[in-house]
Amino acid sequence: MKKAARKTKAKKTRITLPGSKNISEQIAQMIRVDHAGEFGAQRIYEGQLAVLGKKTSSMTTQIKHMASQEEEHLAAFEKLIVERQVRPTALYPLWHVAGFALGVATAMLGEKAAMACTVAVEEVIDEHYQQQLDALDEEEPQLRKMITKFRHEEIEHKNIGLDHGAEDVVYFPLLRAAIRAGSKAAIWLAKRV
Ligand SMILES: [Fe+2]
Ligand SMILES: [Fe+2]
Repeated sequence: MKKAARKTKAKKTRITLPGSKNISEQIAQMIRVDHAGEFGAQRIYEGQLAVLGKKTSSMTTQIKHMASQEEEHLAAFEKLIVERQVRPTALYPLWHVAGFALGVATAMLGEKAAMACTVAVEEVIDEHYQQQLDALDEEEPQLRKMITKFRHEEIEHKNIGLDHGAEDVVYFPLLRAAIRAGSKAAIWLAKRV
């Protein structure tokens, strides 16, 4: 009984987002971060397809599939940015360049390295979206529904990467650690700028 009560209490605890004063500011910050993240994701795949796009393989087919889902994610957050008059990230030019560069660099290392990039990024995004869902609790059912759907698609992307040899890349642990750190830094920055 006591355990159940503790569980309920824990569920109600909100994650306090940095620099936010109230729930509507927290939600605006979430939309800004997610919009920036989905933009970055789209740019990663654009970079990968700039290198690998002319090849016909099951990997490029999968990259195109993931890229089209990222476009949908980005469009949904773009719509929210406009509807709710949320200030977009001021670091748009950085994500434009950094996302594309990461996509090009990993694709140049090979298709499996491109997949390893997806695995590393999506691991972070999966955790990030789950934290947002926990923080939203029962607020914003529509936004929750959207984030839940996108999170499942990001997990699908991660599994596509794993199924396509991401872990076969010799330096996978190193690449994964570097990209994870970069993605976490990007989220940290997008929350603030
Ligand atoms: Fe996405
Ligand atoms: Fe994704």
